[in-house]
Amino acid sequence: MPNHETLVEVRGLKKTFKRADGTEVQAVRGIDLDITRGEIFSMLGPNGAGKTTTISMISGLLAPTEGDARIGGFSITKQALEAKKLLGVVPQEIALYPALTARQNLEFFGRMYGLGGKELAHSVDEVLDFTDLRDRAKDRIETFSGGMKRRVNIGVGLLHKPQLVYMDEPTVGVDPQSRRRILDTVLRLRDVQKMTVLYTTHLMEEAQELSNRVGIVDQGKVIALGTVGQLIQQVGEEDRLILSVGTQTLKDGLLQKLQSSVEGVTRALYDAPVQASETSDQVQSGKITVYAKRGRRALPDLLKIISDASIDVMSVEVREPDLEAVFLQLTGRALRD
Ligand SMILES: Nc1ncnc2c1ncn2[C@@H]1O[C@H](COP(=O)(O)OP(=O)(O)OP(=O)(O)O)[C@@H](O)[C@H]1O
Ligand SMILES: [Mg+2]
Repeated sequence: MPNHETLVEVRGLKKTFKRADGTEVQAVRGIDLDITRGEIFSMLGPNGAGKTTTISMISGLLAPTEGDARIGGFSITKQALEAKKLLGVVPQEIALYPALTARQNLEFFGRMYGLGGKELAHSVDEVLDFTDLRDRAKDRIETFSGGMKRRVNIGVGLLHKPQLVYMDEPTVGVDPQSRRRILDTVLRLRDVQKMTVLYTTHLMEEAQELSNRVGIVDQGKVIALGTVGQLIQQVGEEDRLILSVGTQTLKDGLLQKLQSSVEGVTRALYDAPVQASETSDQVQSGKITVYAKRGRRALPDLLKIISDASIDVMSVEVREPDLEAVFLQLTGRALRD
């Protein structure tokens, strides 16, 4: 089969939950997506954006309120059995039996997928190798670190050799080293196993590193979609300079001056989370954000103007255009909390 064909088609997917008190939550408000065979597609969005709800519907675990998804042409609502054979699910919550060994867990879940005999044993061996857990296969899960549990959890989703693997925030709560291993595993799923991966995360670094394409999700909708390069182009080529400033009064016209007299600067904004009193603009601490082309070059002039205004700069951060900037531009909010 050619490598560029569409494996997953999501059309008009919606989910409304009813709370116990009768109020409704529109968790997913109409999502359309195509996922191409052989790619890592990431859904990037903050907590509560609707990522898990979307994945649960695409994997047939949750009935959509409206819309449908097709996997390899099979409707997840009308041809659920055929569709589910093509996919492996790695849930956000770890679902393993702590008192069983890694191998026993894999064997148990493999049987649930309908595997048995030599096929099962072979598959379990392959998965243990792939997740680098062969030498811990006989140890009980309760003796594993969080990162190792995650890898077993991923292994469970791979046992029946699915064409498509869903992974819902698989790096949450693991240490940096385990996280690196998980990200490498995801890349090998695509590059070595030739699988298609649907990955969710609220971390833009992960989406940037892993993805062929990213869908940015917010409040139940895809608000931007494309390659990382295409998405970043949307915000232009400006760097973001974030200057933490001290307790002084911000003089009138300072922002104006930064904007008009430093080359490359297009905007300077002030955001004062803590105001000393409602009537003065005396602040306890605040942030000046400057958007500038070639931000590092503009920095010395900016700092001079600010210090001439007798304002202390405590720290400076230079952010090159990234997916965080795309999210900020589209929503006015930061992706990180
Ligand atoms: N079973 C449910 N009943 C009611 N509301 C729900 C239910 N499941 C999810 N929600 C709500 O739907 C919205 C989307 O939740 P969802 O878990 O899909 O977000 P998410 O993007 O996966 O977030 P996170 O990054 O925290 O995992 C949230 O407002 C959540 O509170
Ligand atoms: Mg989630």
